[in-house]
Amino acid sequence: MSHKAINTIRSVFNELYPAPGSQDVLEELIATLEKARTDLPFEDQPEGWYKDAVVYSLYVDLFNGTFEGLKDKLDGLAELGVNCLWLLPILDSPMRDAGFDIRDYRNIRPDLLGMSDTTPVEEKQKAFREFLVHAHERGLRVIFDIAMNHTSESHPWFVESRKGPDNPFRDYYIWNKDTNRYKETRLIFKGMCPSNWEKDGEWYFFHRFFEFQPDLNYANPKVLLEICRILVFWLGQGLDGFRADAIPYIWKEDGTNCENLPQAHKIIKIFRAVLDYVRPNTLLLAEACQPPHEVVKYFGNGDECHAGYHFPLMPMIFKTLALSDATPVQHILHPSVTPGIAPENQWFMFLRLHDELTLEMVSPEDRAIIHGHYCKNPGWDFRVGEGISARLSELLDRDPGKIGLAYSIMLSLPGTPIIYYGDEYAKLNDEAYYESFRKETGKDDTRYLARGPLDWEKIALELKDTSSLTYKVNSLMHALLKARNSSGAFGRGSMQWAGVQYSPAGEAAIPVLAYFRSYGDDVVLVVNNLSGNPLEVTSVDSRAVNGINMPDGSAVSTPLVLEPYGFRWIKLSTNN
Ligand code: GLC
Repeated sequence: MSHKAINTIRSVFNELYPAPGSQDVLEELIATLEKARTDLPFEDQPEGWYKDAVVYSLYVDLFNGTFEGLKDKLDGLAELGVNCLWLLPILDSPMRDAGFDIRDYRNIRPDLLGMSDTTPVEEKQKAFREFLVHAHERGLRVIFDIAMNHTSESHPWFVESRKGPDNPFRDYYIWNKDTNRYKETRLIFKGMCPSNWEKDGEWYFFHRFFEFQPDLNYANPKVLLEICRILVFWLGQGLDGFRADAIPYIWKEDGTNCENLPQAHKIIKIFRAVLDYVRPNTLLLAEACQPPHEVVKYFGNGDECHAGYHFPLMPMIFKTLALSDATPVQHILHPSVTPGIAPENQWFMFLRLHDELTLEMVSPEDRAIIHGHYCKNPGWDFRVGEGISARLSELLDRDPGKIGLAYSIMLSLPGTPIIYYGDEYAKLNDEAYYESFRKETGKDDTRYLARGPLDWEKIALELKDTSSLTYKVNSLMHALLKARNSSGAFGRGSMQWAGVQYSPAGEAAIPVLAYFRSYGDDVVLVVNNLSGNPLEVTSVDSRAVNGINMPDGSAVSTPLVLEPYGFRWIKLSTNN
């Protein structure tokens, strides 16, 4: 069978696994893919669909109980302007890392489906397929998480593997007699998990995250085959994409820091080729929390991930807001810092997600500024100064002006936005949820502060009160997403900085972040006032004068006077 993707798989596989004994695994992989492609009951996905996406990230149980509860809310999400759901882990798991500790990759947790532990797996899969059809009929695509770096310690592979060196599954994981291998590997869960090795009898196993999440051993080609089979399985169920969790860490090599290794990129090329072969344009989204020049490598040459989180930008938005200065955002987006990406690739943009506001990859100076400004309560700290766990509304002082400004920036810079469930209702930290998790597990995982269930009755009441924070943030999100969805410029357009003059002039800081987004004739000027004072824009592009404000279509009145933390999105007139 000659097909570009199959040729890629063959050549990359042979580079990774030159041992002659690996050939059987390769042939098995290819046979699996051929069968999956023939059996697939779906058409290819449209090219680049993820560029027009507005993503909503949620835990099914915390959002509204079950998949049935989620179905009830889909029309509301579509009305908000969302067209893609990112389901945080839904697969069978002991739930010690919110489901990123997977025990069975094909089995959905029964409580999410209102089913019992004895419900057959196929019945759960069928119910999930029906959910996908339901979502697709409403114009919503669905992606979810596959933790591919590690499993739960309760996964049957690990249960076997830990039985001893002769077990056929031993090499699915990484075992050593001591802790001397991979010495240069940094600790990720600093303060919560003190080592990358866990003792098990006379041996140690390797793990990048918690000690109950043993890392898979991709040096064993069978592991790659297993994970490819899992991807293929979910393609067959109708899933639209995968968030590739923790991919920088999937390959380990002594004498390195075990991150971003060339072999990790090769594995990802194989995953991508699997998707390209079985169902092209199924999204592969990189979760690579790395410096800019490393993150962009996960796009490969159009042969790795389609999209990646813009981890370098997110903390710089917070820094820009903290200092009322455009420089941090302008600097990080400069092509010498974050290299340009190919047209088919896309950044995924976010302010907050289910994890902490990570400061892992910023300079010590920036870490001090951002942590100092936003970690308003020592209890929000995560991994000893390298992150802050809090809901967006808490970070931004429950101030609708600041929250609006943050969204104005995130939703209008290049990329596909992600909205974290509850943030559209200005959800606050959930101390009770965090405390109950801490008591149950003994782990001080402050990320749980920013999780917790939505209280729909409370939300309904607050939405009736036009003076509430919930109401203000929610109306603003509706307006911004309406504006965003009315123009292709945001998801697909180019960006140029706009030089505007303003008064009062800043001192050292630049209090205005202004840029054009252009897609064909569609040109939008975005002007953000980063300061807590009113600001008058004294000179602005002449096309803005006859332009219209988005989304309400009102005429632009000049000079532009921006209220504290105010912003304007102006659709430029093409008749000048
Ligand atoms: C990813 C997830 C995070 C999880 C970790 C380990 O970074 O976003 O929540 O703890 O992987 O699976």
